[in-house]
Amino acid sequence: MESYINIMMWLLNLLVFGATLLPISHSRQIHSNFQVRAVNLGGWLVTEGWIKPSLFDAIPNKDFLDGTGLQFKSVTTQKYLCAESGGGTIIVANRTTASGWETFRLWRLNESTFRFRVFNKQFVGLDGIKVVAVVNASTNSETFEIVKESDDSERVRIRASNGFFVQAKTEELVTADVSNVSGWGDDDPTIFLMTINSRMQGEFQVTNGYGPYKAPQVMKEHWGTFIVEEDFKFIAKSGLNAVRIPVGWWIASDPTPPPPYVGGSLQALDKAFSWAQKYGLKIIVDLHAAPGSQNGYEHSSSRDSSQEWGETDENIQQTVGVIDFLTARYGKSANLYAVELINEPLAPGVTLERLTKYYMEGYNAVRKHSPTAYVVFSNRLGSSQPRELFPLANGLMGSVIDVHYYNLFSDIFDNMTVQQNIDFIHTNRSSQLNYVTTSNGPLTFVGEWVAEWQVKGASKEDYQRFAQAQLDVYGRATFGREKNREIPLSATVTFHEVRLSIRDSQSESPKVSAVCET
Ligand SMILES: *[C@@H]1O[C@H](CO)[C@@H](O)[C@H](O)[C@H]1NC(C)=O
Ligand SMILES: *[C@@H]1O[C@H](CO)[C@@H](O)[C@H](O)[C@H]1NC(C)=O
Ligand SMILES: *[C@@H]1O[C@H](CO)[C@@H](O)[C@H](O)[C@H]1NC(C)=O
Ligand SMILES: *[C@@H]1O[C@H](CO)[C@@H](O)[C@H](O)[C@H]1NC(C)=O
Ligand SMILES: *[C@@H]1O[C@H](CO)[C@@H](O)[C@H](O)[C@H]1NC(C)=O
Ligand SMILES: *[C@@H]1O[C@H](CO)[C@@H](O)[C@H](O)[C@H]1NC(C)=O
Repeated sequence: MESYINIMMWLLNLLVFGATLLPISHSRQIHSNFQVRAVNLGGWLVTEGWIKPSLFDAIPNKDFLDGTGLQFKSVTTQKYLCAESGGGTIIVANRTTASGWETFRLWRLNESTFRFRVFNKQFVGLDGIKVVAVVNASTNSETFEIVKESDDSERVRIRASNGFFVQAKTEELVTADVSNVSGWGDDDPTIFLMTINSRMQGEFQVTNGYGPYKAPQVMKEHWGTFIVEEDFKFIAKSGLNAVRIPVGWWIASDPTPPPPYVGGSLQALDKAFSWAQKYGLKIIVDLHAAPGSQNGYEHSSSRDSSQEWGETDENIQQTVGVIDFLTARYGKSANLYAVELINEPLAPGVTLERLTKYYMEGYNAVRKHSPTAYVVFSNRLGSSQPRELFPLANGLMGSVIDVHYYNLFSDIFDNMTVQQNIDFIHTNRSSQLNYVTTSNGPLTFVGEWVAEWQVKGASKEDYQRFAQAQLDVYGRATFGREKNREIPLSATVTFHEVRLSIRDSQSESPKVSAVCET
């Protein structure tokens, strides 16, 4: 019960909140005071290890999950293994410090067999006996075993699938050609001091970590216990009226998603809709993990921190297909409030052009099944242009710009006091939100924020003041007030024609025409 309460308190910290000060159109009446107050159900249908670390506890050899970044210092050269030039050529053992080029990302094949991926994304393989990183296709690469001296030792050997151990023969020559080894002495060029430089704990890691027999059982248990009907009841009772539910792209191929993903998250989402109906809650469905990963983070289910979403038309079509699937399934439900097409795409990897193409097609996919659901466009992380989606969104009725505001993830917050954090909300966040909230532009939404900060030892009252400041400021966003609800619309948007034509479904007359600059 205590952990249940903690989880709920944690969830409630992630309030999603939408409101408006300005009516969107002077001709429209204010119908009610309905205002969305929602909570994110993070870590449920898309795994994020920090939310529920125990989910990973029973994975065999759980230090070595997909995406784990390893660094190896040769005991003989006293230098780090490095993919020369970041990849595309040989592996060397001549670097005195370790960072990107000296980090090898794991692909886990089973608990003891791995591939290594280097900075420029090539996989480690052999050219004769020489260790190289030249192939782009994982299947053409070598598989390796990491043999530890003991569980708590940092001394390891790396054995290739041909049985030979890797050695740092010289600083500039790394080979896999040692078959006989003994002991763990400092004069042995097959021995490396291994450090784990980074870890990932997302859906890919947990499902591939448990493997095809165990993962379905573990995930089913998680989905069925982490969020339950009682939580929806509690949410409704606590004065909230909506939930934002992150989902992963594999949900669209339930019950048989591509490995390592496992089926069952769709059933959980079905349940969420039935509980939402029972307790009068709205649902914002959020595609949090898109195929290929839109940001390289574990929360978008990246395998190894690579970001490959949107690179091809097929990939975009596949993602539109996921939105089509979800809105076909839930579009008729009165509880579907909004669909967020993709969460936190990251610039510059995701270009504005590719994202605009996707948003247009995704918008159409939603409108095919629902004339009323809001369509939420997440701003790109890493872009310095918070209004960059305006040319697109301005032409699309019921579109919303989502911004995420955390007083975390940047060193500007490192030494801030309680009051400085609160002032930052009132001045900086307030002006950022004002900038994207315009009287004739898209609705705005602070879809993620949290009452957490870098301050150590703050009191409960400090946390409450911080949360209140955020409620006050983020509550000025314009999404989520019923008075903004537009009459049903149908819309057609064609990216290639670049012309948007949106028709009022009742009058059949053009309502908005806009040219989308691409
Ligand atoms: C892991 O895979 C390798 C290569 O296919 C195989 O030899 C080994 O037995 C497997 N180990 C386990 C624990 O399944
Ligand atoms: C791997 O991909 C890179 C970048 O696309 C390309 O330049 C290189 O030729 C490819 N290497 C191989 C061995 O196919
Ligand atoms: C490491 O060895 C490579 C290959 O000989 C060489 O090109 C590079 O300059 C060396 N780097 C350092 C830091 O010594
Ligand atoms: C490995 O060591 C054993 C015992 O010292 C020896 O008989 C064998 O020839 C060695 N093998 C190789 C490939 O060096
Ligand atoms: C925060 O304070 C510490 C200790 O005074 C200092 O070392 C660090 O540089 C400061 N960080 C920033 C971002 O100002
Ligand atoms: C926050 O806003 C204040 C006032 O506009 C400004 O002086 C300050 O540089 C901003 N701080 C950051 C970290 O952006």
